[in-house]
Amino acid sequence: MPVPEQAGLPAVPPLPAGLPKGHLREIVLYPDPILRSIALPAKGIAADELAQLAADMLITMYHAGGRGLAAPQIGIARRVFVMDGFWKEGAPAPRIIIDPVLTPLGDEIGDMVEGCLSIPDHPVSVARPTRITLRHLDLDGPMQVIDLDGIEARIAQHEADHLDGRLILDFQESSNA
Ligand code: NI
Repeated sequence: MPVPEQAGLPAVPPLPAGLPKGHLREIVLYPDPILRSIALPAKGIAADELAQLAADMLITMYHAGGRGLAAPQIGIARRVFVMDGFWKEGAPAPRIIIDPVLTPLGDEIGDMVEGCLSIPDHPVSVARPTRITLRHLDLDGPMQVIDLDGIEARIAQHEADHLDGRLILDFQESSNA
């Protein structure tokens, strides 16, 4: 079945080579308690299961018009997220991130307004390190170490937060105004 496309979004990019066909999954919405759970490591999940999960997450993210999606957002409390910082600009760069460990690189902090597919129409300005080192497993197993900046550093931190039950709501300044 072809994936229907939303008006105003670029075409859904092809999935990375080697992934199975992805299926659309339902995105869990706040305040579903799974969004507050601490996800378990993904290590140990069978490789074919993990590849299917990644394919489903990428398709679901693209279809929803997002740049990142974490497994708890489709109801799976495992430490997996997918991201693509550039597909909306016509330069797809999908990443599949398994059991990530993030470390700030340098001490620069930047503010950016973030949205979340699980909290529709509720953008929040969030201060985060602008550069990070990201260590993670990929589908082939070996540990990867990459440095990210810009939108990719932003997305990776947002999605990694999901794996610890942290949401952009937690960054809102309390205000009665
Ligand atoms: Ni989110």
